[in-house]
Amino acid sequence: MKPDTLLFEIAWEVCNQIGGIYTYVKSKAPAMTDIYGDNYFLVGPYFHEKAKLDFRPIRELDNSPLSRAILYIRSLGYDIHLGYWLLEEARPRVILINPIIPNKALNEVKTALWQHQEISALESNVLLDQVLGFGEVSRLFFTKLIEETDINQDIIAHFHEWMSAAALAELARQQVRIATVFTTHATSLGRYLASNEDQYFCKIPTYNWQQKAREYGIEAQAQLERNAAKYANVLVTNSESTAAECEVFLGRKPDSIVHSGIHRKPGVGYEVFEWHLQNRQKIDAFVKALFSPSYQLRSDKTLYFFTSGRYEFYNKGFDVTLQAIARLNEELVRRKSETNVVLFIISKQPFHNIKPDVLEARQRFQELQRICKMISAKLGPRIYANVTGAEGRKLPDLNQLIDDDLQMTWRQALANFKRKSLPPTTTHHLTGQDDILAFCQQAGLTNNEGDNVKVIYHPDFIERVTSLFSMEYLEFVRGCHLGVFPSLYEPWGYAPMETVLHGTPVVTSDVSGFGHFARQAAEMEGNNEVKVVKRREQSSEQAVIQLTEIFLEFIEDFESHQYIPRATLPKSVLDSLCWSELQKRYEENYKLALLRYQPVAGLY
Ligand code: GLC
Repeated sequence: MKPDTLLFEIAWEVCNQIGGIYTYVKSKAPAMTDIYGDNYFLVGPYFHEKAKLDFRPIRELDNSPLSRAILYIRSLGYDIHLGYWLLEEARPRVILINPIIPNKALNEVKTALWQHQEISALESNVLLDQVLGFGEVSRLFFTKLIEETDINQDIIAHFHEWMSAAALAELARQQVRIATVFTTHATSLGRYLASNEDQYFCKIPTYNWQQKAREYGIEAQAQLERNAAKYANVLVTNSESTAAECEVFLGRKPDSIVHSGIHRKPGVGYEVFEWHLQNRQKIDAFVKALFSPSYQLRSDKTLYFFTSGRYEFYNKGFDVTLQAIARLNEELVRRKSETNVVLFIISKQPFHNIKPDVLEARQRFQELQRICKMISAKLGPRIYANVTGAEGRKLPDLNQLIDDDLQMTWRQALANFKRKSLPPTTTHHLTGQDDILAFCQQAGLTNNEGDNVKVIYHPDFIERVTSLFSMEYLEFVRGCHLGVFPSLYEPWGYAPMETVLHGTPVVTSDVSGFGHFARQAAEMEGNNEVKVVKRREQSSEQAVIQLTEIFLEFIEDFESHQYIPRATLPKSVLDSLCWSELQKRYEENYKLALLRYQPVAGLY
């Protein structure tokens, strides 16, 4: 590849977290900026509230072809931003495009879509309208950029998922001099069918994509996705099972399968255990703050389970996890077990605000911690003075050593740290009905003192600055004891992968690309920290029973050994999952795309 090749990666989740593609672009950026330097760009949608978090605009534009293309787009009245994505490990350059365009322009796009691709998008749909708006502005941008650059300059546009790729087919039709790669991380039909059709995986080859798309009301979306796959110079996907879906739903066999990777290998030695302990203490503090005003929960008898991911109740197996956790509770209560389990559910749902009760409990707990520190700071020298004084051999009365006003402050703080109700099951006030909360209510999972299993639903992704835990997501993962991901539809599965790679044992499912891969690797090494729930051929009731058994075994192990296993994968497997390795596979695909992109007349 020529050293001045420009590479654009276009994804809906650039600076916009929804699910795994966010982790994909974020974790891949350091490896890509290492290789391509300033010739690497990420392109995504501009949402003001989200961009505020970690996007830093570049205000001064130079006279490069890229800047000229940006200025041209602005001169047409569209909103486009150039800047840096402020990631921990890299600062990739980012172009953000406001996907909301004026109605008149949107209608013209829809007319062209019908005329050129026979896709009808007349019905207004917020996401589809944004996807088309984004597609139109990105098409104009790339077309202008190519016009402005030297004919010998190679340019590659790598699109991810249908939401970012509405421009792809039109760029091909207009024979714009740009090599295209389309990675599909899932299929739209797969997402709908997996949770709605019995025996989905066995029936994939028998589906008629058009008929199903119509049935589920996603024709335009399915057609856009199909055309992106059809007209991309190279089609890539992330696992064998998504490849099978591509053939049936997208009408094309992928050119290659490239697993989704991680930035850097996490540690594998004793430090994994130390990190776990450090992070667990932070989770302990959060749980204590939340529960202590109602009743006490012993940290040394409590295990932290968690599940996380895109809010897809059935696809992510939230239903199976909750049902299994309810059964586990019944069983632990029946056995009069001393062990408690706190299940954290981390996802993203619209909310008004964090519950004031939760914030207050946290603040009061911090206040108690502060007073404790003050007491111990005073107590230390006084005990010392006491034991080295005349009555040195007598144990001092500790109450006597604390000043009255400090005792008073402590009592007051304790008195304020009380609530009459149960600890809340959710940390935020949600804006609407919610399946997770509804299930907890109906199943009686309401954090009663007599129940062994408690639930904390955190309907926002975890980030150090915005979350209640004051920790990064991966630190939280490290501090937990078990990750639970019995997904029904999971083309790859970042959440289970990150969990096991950070040393936390995991339950995944046999439909997850990563689950399948890790199981094979773990079997090779006789490692047992990746458990797999069968979802391909088993009913969800059976999956619930299997998952409950896995939970119980895990708890029995803990009760008999008081030891929590940490997970590892063989080094060769870890290496193969790093972007520094996986990106070589993409290099091959980029080369192939450059070879293939020569525009062919009369494509449509
Ligand atoms: C999508 C898939 C998920 C995968 C991710 C990255 O979000 O649903 O399984 O891990 O893309 O490839």
